[in-house]
Amino acid sequence: MTIDLDVDHSSPSDGLSTVQRRSAVLEELVHRDPGRFRVLTGDRPTGRLHLGHYFGTLHNRVRLQNLGVEMLVIIADYQVLTDRDVADRLTEHVEDLVLDYLAVGVDPQRATIFTHSAIPALNQLLLPFLSLITVAELGRNPTVKEEIAQSQQSSVSGLMFTYPAHQAADILFCKANLVPVGQDQLPHLEVTRTIARRFNSRYGGGLEIFPEPDALLSAAPLLLGTDGTKMSKSRGNAIVLASSADETARSIRSAKTDSHRHISYEPATRPEVSSLVLLAALCLGRDPRQVAEDLGGRGAAALKETVTEAVNAYLAPIRERRALYAQDRGHIRKVLRDGNERAAAIANTTLTEVRSTMNALY
Ligand code: TRP
Repeated sequence: MTIDLDVDHSSPSDGLSTVQRRSAVLEELVHRDPGRFRVLTGDRPTGRLHLGHYFGTLHNRVRLQNLGVEMLVIIADYQVLTDRDVADRLTEHVEDLVLDYLAVGVDPQRATIFTHSAIPALNQLLLPFLSLITVAELGRNPTVKEEIAQSQQSSVSGLMFTYPAHQAADILFCKANLVPVGQDQLPHLEVTRTIARRFNSRYGGGLEIFPEPDALLSAAPLLLGTDGTKMSKSRGNAIVLASSADETARSIRSAKTDSHRHISYEPATRPEVSSLVLLAALCLGRDPRQVAEDLGGRGAAALKETVTEAVNAYLAPIRERRALYAQDRGHIRKVLRDGNERAAAIANTTLTEVRSTMNALY
């Protein structure tokens, strides 16, 4: 079901503020009527998740789940091959993701956790979907361009080039109508909406076979890593959920600050100090300005102590649960098996409908 709102939703060039306004309206609707929504979100299995993931998306997923929204979480184990040549440690990375999900409170009874590669019918949707998008449109996608630039590979694979259409299959196979994302994923969501629209008009004779899903932009502010740039594992500046309290203390101690003794929250002019303040505030559930004010003239060492205590206290129960689940590999496997089974059933139904719509059911 496509959600009709009074918010203008005319073209992809609407810009960020329209998506933000619409997200606010959608938030209200989710609270009022969670049963209207099916959410699809996911991650590439690149290793253990960190606090940037947690406050950027994980926290929000658990919140939506607990509001009663139906949720599917994809582990994009094909997409992860877009920017690396090798699939080594893939099993380990997939299992690490499941562990992180369970530890933060994603409940496999309520949420379907599944892997790309195990759902043949989902992947088959890629073929009709590719017929609905031009090479020029794929080439224009700013997020793909950025990833190609960052991947530092000598050539671009077909998988890298086509992955926004694949992501459309991830979202549309279950007819999700809400996709919580960060800003970088908005171009992909636009591709998904385009494919849904074109499928409905070109093959569906105007019937709504696929809803046009909405982005739900996260309100979370950007969390920087310990060196003051975007938190990311490859930059070595991330605070990993699964790390120990000591490792966390060490990495916060080595975090970059500036030479002003007075602590303040001014993200634009003091990004490093402000990000540390923000981190403490998020973990304490407080306003960052207030946290900064309390610290006042006590300097960077006191700030780091506050951050370390707040982060370790916040993560303690998550880490405890994670360690417990990590002892039972059979359980992780079962979560995946069950999720894959549920996702495959949904994908089979959708593929049959698609083939029937395309007069290709023999
Ligand atoms: N592209 C997303 C990322 O890099 C992962 C992803 C794959 C995804 N399929 C998705 C996200 C579908 C949302 C919906 O993080």
